[in-house]
Amino acid sequence: MADIIEINGGVRLSGTVRISGAKNAALPMMMAALLSAEECIFENVPNLEDVGLTLHLLEHLGASTEYTRDRVSIHVPRLLATEASYSLVKALRASFWVLGPLLARGRAARVALPGGDIIGARPVDLHLAALQQMGAEITTKHGVVYATAVNGLRPARVELRFPSVGATHQIMMAASLVPGTSEILGAAREPEVVALAAMLNDMGAEIEGAGTDHIVIRGRSELGGVRIKLIGDRIEAGTYLLAAATTQGQVRVEGVAPDHLGAFLPVLSEMGAQVEVGSDWVSATFAHRPKALQAVTAPFPGLATDLQAPLVAALCFAEGESKIDETVFEGRFAHVAELARMGAQLTVHDRAIVINGVSRLSAAPVEAHDIRAGAAIILAALGAEGISHIHEIQHLRRGYETLERKLQGLGARVGARQTEVDDFLFSGC
Ligand code: EPZ
Repeated sequence: MADIIEINGGVRLSGTVRISGAKNAALPMMMAALLSAEECIFENVPNLEDVGLTLHLLEHLGASTEYTRDRVSIHVPRLLATEASYSLVKALRASFWVLGPLLARGRAARVALPGGDIIGARPVDLHLAALQQMGAEITTKHGVVYATAVNGLRPARVELRFPSVGATHQIMMAASLVPGTSEILGAAREPEVVALAAMLNDMGAEIEGAGTDHIVIRGRSELGGVRIKLIGDRIEAGTYLLAAATTQGQVRVEGVAPDHLGAFLPVLSEMGAQVEVGSDWVSATFAHRPKALQAVTAPFPGLATDLQAPLVAALCFAEGESKIDETVFEGRFAHVAELARMGAQLTVHDRAIVINGVSRLSAAPVEAHDIRAGAAIILAALGAEGISHIHEIQHLRRGYETLERKLQGLGARVGARQTEVDDFLFSGC
């Protein structure tokens, strides 16, 4: 039996969605608990597959954990292991980010290389080069990174050729448990980086410049515990705001900081939405079909690459021709073929997607290939005529907490179903 999501589209959505805590803040912050022998408590944690996998990894490394409602406690009095296996890293790429904390606290680590995925090659060269600059001895063989720092890591001044979010997290975490002053030049500026820095500062580190491209970290030989509330998930929020675009409706998202959406809000306005913002909410109303536009994804505060696929889905309904350049991940196009199955008119030229909007899409059986490609076909199905079945929904469970319930709250006709697995499986061409 396979789980699918069934959507009977064509309903104009209207209402309010409470946004969950940010998945991409939860993961690094939970891993940062490895840096302390005291308890770390997190609130507003989303109930997602990736959070569960992170807890499983941390327990393997010696953490005792508790997870009740949206509150997580992680306590690592001592490290009981310093390795993250291939199966763990394959299940959750971000597991690779434990390398820095394990080196800083345990002076040794063995972590499987994450490898690529459907959105790109996703190398980790920036992570490894930075940790080597901090004194780690690193060898890579049989797909595993073996790292030691027998005399402990040392402070360093690291320059990133690309503002990698993960590399910025990794360096900040490691440097926070290294006495002395480290610097990151060319750092990522994402809100999740700022959230992690705030947590590390509450634990006793002194980090300045988070949110800019120059971060200074004054580390300590010991860090304390922390109690902290996660920021709202800006990508989940952007996804639901785009549901107003694909259904010509009105959606208000609550529990997210508008400035965390970066260039996305001006893009919504350019598409013809009436956008209103408050301290922790954003509302978008589309009285007509969205307008076509040209946009380019970029590191924060640019248009988030994680909103590229949902935005493309919305532009499939636009009047006119749109063009979206994906500059962050070279392979982030898995949603294009699925949207085309629903009648969308779009083509890929190198790293640009050209979309000729149509007034209506037609429902179809479609497949989620990754978390944000899945979000894109959900949005398209909401605006399509007829009943769509979305397969491989495990990808959606990674980043969209209580997805069906939130959409039903906006008036969508949506539900999870079980179907017989096809008695044949396509084996490619
Ligand atoms: C984080 O991934 C997010 N994941 C991604 O969200 C997000 O798309 C990405 O940042 C960009 O914003 C989490 O936070 C768990 P990067 P990360 O390192 O850290 C190149 C989602 O949908 N690069 O900023 O892996 C890389 O190839 C996920 O929630 C190197 O070349 O992204 C890519 O082109 C998907 N060498 C670019 O940087 C390196 O050592 C951005 O990658 C590292 C990265």
